[in-house]
Amino acid sequence: MLDIHLDVQPRGLMVYWGQSYHYLFHPLWLRENSMDAEYRDENIGARIPQATDHPLDIAIDSAQIDSNGNVNLMFSDGHSCDFPVKMLRDRAEQHRPDDLIGAKVFWGRGFDDYPTYELTDLQNDESRVLSALGTLAKYGFVHVQGLAIDAHALKSLCDCVGPMRETNWGTLADVRNIPNPYDLTMTARSLAPHADNPYRLPAPGYIFMQCLRNNADGGESIMVDGFGVADALRKSAPEAFDALTTIAPNFRHAEDSAILEDSGPLIELNEAGDVQRVRFSNRTEQVPPLSPTTLDRYYRGRKQFADLIFSDEHTLTTKLQPGDAFIWDNYRIFHGRTAFDITTGDRHMRHCYLDRDTVSSRQKCLMRDLG
Ligand SMILES: [Fe+2]
Repeated sequence: MLDIHLDVQPRGLMVYWGQSYHYLFHPLWLRENSMDAEYRDENIGARIPQATDHPLDIAIDSAQIDSNGNVNLMFSDGHSCDFPVKMLRDRAEQHRPDDLIGAKVFWGRGFDDYPTYELTDLQNDESRVLSALGTLAKYGFVHVQGLAIDAHALKSLCDCVGPMRETNWGTLADVRNIPNPYDLTMTARSLAPHADNPYRLPAPGYIFMQCLRNNADGGESIMVDGFGVADALRKSAPEAFDALTTIAPNFRHAEDSAILEDSGPLIELNEAGDVQRVRFSNRTEQVPPLSPTTLDRYYRGRKQFADLIFSDEHTLTTKLQPGDAFIWDNYRIFHGRTAFDITTGDRHMRHCYLDRDTVSSRQKCLMRDLG
């Protein structure tokens, strides 16, 4: 039996969970979060009355715990409602929604025993999809194998998660060496670790990439755990970390049909001070002419960040085989490749993007539906 104790105070309702935890809830917060049937659409659950119509000085007249463990409240406007104690505890402890749910584990060189999933398992067993999304949350990437060597296989993988993001370039895109390339990805050059399209708003959340052919010398895939690198920078160079979390460069890409611009720090923190996104894109970064003092700090920090991103210590290198795919978090993982020799073979990848809410929604629905 939970040891719950309630105390109506002038500032709100104090709820005690034994001696170990207590939380003070504002009376208006409780009133506007009423789940009473008359207060919500019965099917949708959406609040119907305007929350701003409640008097700002609304008070709690009485509070008690019933036999079901619910908190029964009576308000000064005559409304009464119940709150499950667990719901109050959950809301007290977590003020913001999760993105993808799961504790993060940082990795670096030598991390080669990551989980692998079979596409047919993902297609036939939703618990495997949930497991794969948990792996994505944990490590920032997922390895999938068993895709058909054809142009439609990547969509089959996406269909396990949700709809593809469409941009001005369409949805699916080929990454291979072609004549008259309009982007460095379409050459045989090496690509240094980077995040994709930080100039878009929103930037692509997740990248799905399939290998169709990879028999040229070179062409190895490179991945770097940007959160792990940011964590290392925070510990080894706090001044650099501070500069990169507070000074924001711009990112820009322009072509005939599109002018795409956004800005943001190379290391972005959430309200709790945790890293929630990293950016690094040498090809598209445009630093504004800020004061020399500010740019001194930014350039020193960026150099130290880059030294870690490019270090062997943080680099995972692997050569994808036809039928392989990687899914990775474009807000966490920097990706690149080594150069390849087109006189020895071909390298052909296909990729597409999924939005962050598409992926996190799929995970949350599976957690709800599969218990
Ligand atoms: Fe890229």
